[in-house]
Amino acid sequence: MERIILYSVLSIIIICIEFVHTSVCDIKYEFKENEEGKIADCKNKGLTFIPQDLPGDIKVLDMSSNRLRIIGENSFVNYKYLQELFLRQNQLHYLSNKSFQGLHKLTILDMSENILNLSKVYSAELFHPIKNLTKLDIRSNMPQPIDFAPDYNYPDHAFSILTELSILGIDMMPLPHFGSGFSQMTTLKQLHFESFI
Ligand SMILES: *[C@@H]1O[C@H](CO)[C@@H](O)[C@H](O)[C@H]1NC(C)=O
Ligand SMILES: *[C@@H]1O[C@H](CO)[C@@H](O)[C@H](O)[C@H]1NC(C)=O
Ligand SMILES: *[C@@H]1O[C@H](CO)[C@@H](O)[C@H](O)[C@H]1NC(C)=O
Repeated sequence: MERIILYSVLSIIIICIEFVHTSVCDIKYEFKENEEGKIADCKNKGLTFIPQDLPGDIKVLDMSSNRLRIIGENSFVNYKYLQELFLRQNQLHYLSNKSFQGLHKLTILDMSENILNLSKVYSAELFHPIKNLTKLDIRSNMPQPIDFAPDYNYPDHAFSILTELSILGIDMMPLPHFGSGFSQMTTLKQLHFESFI
């Protein structure tokens, strides 16, 4: 008998969790340039994963202020019409080189206020599927060295693949070296520096 009650309680909990999972984000509509766009607003929901049950035609996904730690490979393949992706203010420290696979229409990517290591994370492989980005924000990710500050080489060759980029936000390091990859970023109009305090 106790076991039956326990199982019933557990299945109710599981049903509730599934219900929460399917209704966790707010789907909104927005008109921009005479076009209707579907937006998934998942801000501040305590999420540790990218929901996979959102409408397949969303153009904007806002995952700001959640508890994401990693973005695994193919996390967004269900959302191939995404134009804007906001991952600001999470605890991201790891990206797979295939994290952004399938996001061919993405133009805005905001990953500011995470803990992604600028020296390790960024490669041409990572940016390859999202070459058409026009705005990339990865500010406030790097804790500043307290005592010893080594010379710092920016991963400019990874960024140079982004041939449409017009706005880049990035951490300022104490002894920065800007490599030749930056000279290929001829479309850049704004460069913002901001560091993690
Ligand atoms: C991504 O690719 C680069 C270059 O091939 C490689 O050095 C790096 O280790 C890869 N990163 C991950 C997370 O697999
Ligand atoms: C970038 O945009 C162009 C023109 O819209 C498109 O032909 C191309 O496939 C896009 N590149 C990628 C990597 O999706
Ligand atoms: C970032 O990665 C580099 C290279 O692996 C390492 O030397 C450095 O300590 C890391 N920085 C932080 C803040 O983890």
